[in-house]
Amino acid sequence: MILSLAPMEGITGHVFRRVHAECFGALDCYYTPFLPPPRVGNRFGGKAFKEIDPANNQGLNVVPQLMSKNADEFVWAVQVLADMGYREVNLNLGCPSGTVVAKGKGSGFLRNLDELEAFLSDVCERSPLPVSVKTRLGLENDDEYERVLDLYCRMPLAELIVHPRVQKDRYTGLPRKEFYGETLERAPFPVAYNGDIFDLEDMDALVEAYPGTRHVMLGRGLLANPALARMVKGGPAATAAELHRFHDTLFAAYAEEIGGNAVFRMKEWWFYAKCAFADPATVHKIVRKTKKVDEYRAAVERVFREQPLAPTARFHG
Ligand SMILES: Cc1cc2nc3c(=O)[nH]c(=O)nc-3n(C[C@H](O)[C@H](O)[C@H](O)COP(=O)(O)O)c2cc1C
Repeated sequence: MILSLAPMEGITGHVFRRVHAECFGALDCYYTPFLPPPRVGNRFGGKAFKEIDPANNQGLNVVPQLMSKNADEFVWAVQVLADMGYREVNLNLGCPSGTVVAKGKGSGFLRNLDELEAFLSDVCERSPLPVSVKTRLGLENDDEYERVLDLYCRMPLAELIVHPRVQKDRYTGLPRKEFYGETLERAPFPVAYNGDIFDLEDMDALVEAYPGTRHVMLGRGLLANPALARMVKGGPAATAAELHRFHDTLFAAYAEEIGGNAVFRMKEWWFYAKCAFADPATVHKIVRKTKKVDEYRAAVERVFREQPLAPTARFHG
């Protein structure tokens, strides 16, 4: 089974990937949070460059994710990535954010299937690297997926990662796994599943219902339980000492990268990580109000001193 880490803007960037791999072992594959392609002729700059800089991704199998509806920029960006040594790119057709959708990108591209078909045929033909896609079912309605899947099946995709929700669901409600099942049956290319795999039972249920499952992408489940991928492969749950070390290494790495803002970045992580504890509400309360580095550190020490881990770490919203 291939296990990958979901792209999560602001969370699963290069710092998180590296520290997580160091503390819990590398996953089979990592997707960068979405990157806007540079203008044709330009290079990736600033934050986007750091994300794909080979020095920041050593030893990890990383697939850069692009979000674009401009075929020339997309193909140019793929050429730049190919020159840097990458072997695949992923196209984001799932982002539900209002501003992204309004520009016809992310899941917003699913509104205009003629334009999407022209774009995909063009970039699949001209891209120097294989192109995979991460998609939702549609914008409003599950019924939209029939035409969307027909379109994908006409394309020579490297892989299709299905997050079976529509744009208007955002991340709420249950994923409709039957559409993943239909994709597995129909697609002439490899298919991956993503959505609400939060513990071993979720994983077992998925594989039992869809024995053809070969690749599962983990997001919030792995943030709440950083040992989730290791457990799926038969390894042990995280101990408190491991979680503590992971926290301290992550905080130190963010502090080096972004200085005092590391506290805010860590508080985003705690939104998920609190689920590893028996009493997430109290953990949240202890960490929530801290602003300065010293008070944050003291709060975290208190959490690890006073709060026992949950019997099973499982994300809950
Ligand atoms: C804060 C946040 C940021 C995300 N950023 C991205 C992104 O950059 N690209 C992308 O394809 N999906 C993004 N996603 C969606 C996740 O990759 C994933 O599809 C979603 O969390 C569902 O999977 P899960 O239930 O395993 O978490 C994001 C989700 C969240 C909650």
